[in-house]
Amino acid sequence: MTRIAVYPGTYDPVTRGHIDICERALKVFDHLVIGVADSPSKIPYFSIDERFDMLQTVFASNERISIKPFSGLLIEFARECGADVILRGLRAISDFEYEVQLAGMNRSLASEIETVFLTAAQRYAFVSSSLVREIASLDGDVSEFLHPDTLARLSEKLKNTQ
Ligand code: COA
Repeated sequence: MTRIAVYPGTYDPVTRGHIDICERALKVFDHLVIGVADSPSKIPYFSIDERFDMLQTVFASNERISIKPFSGLLIEFARECGADVILRGLRAISDFEYEVQLAGMNRSLASEIETVFLTAAQRYAFVSSSLVREIASLDGDVSEFLHPDTLARLSEKLKNTQ
């Protein structure tokens, strides 16, 4: 049986924190589907196509990872992918309350799908996409937190929008 997990997020943009969770998840699951959420309520900085492209570049060489955009309910997306697991990363205790709420709600909507948590590596425990964007927009160095391609695209976009 192939064990498929869905790893959903907005990825605005993907960071090394997300990459770290994906790499470790492949020790547990056979295949990972990275679900790029539309997330219109977050008013993402990058379009869904841009976020998708950045993830494609980061994981291009990995046959065990596929990238798919989605809008609508996460549990429906997971079902479409044939996944029985939703993967989430926990960075700090502050993530816990929201994550438990999300997992509980998803379980009540789809009892056959389990949510599994992996803890973020300590060095990325404080990373978030919006903090990375903010620091970069103020000319701070975020190269430690981004894949070189993502860094280049963020720099380019900031240059064109400032
Ligand atoms: N490393 C680095 N950053 C991380 C991280 C990690 N391991 N895990 C999370 N983050 C960051 C994200 O980049 C994001 O940063 P930002 O807020 O600065 O943009 C932040 O932590 C929050 O991430 P997350 O909790 O994953 O939110 P999200 O917006 O990325 O994804 C969805 C939320 C998509 C999973 C959720 O909205 C969803 O399921 N939507 C579909 C609709 C649905 O089904 N709703 C009902 C749910 S019960």
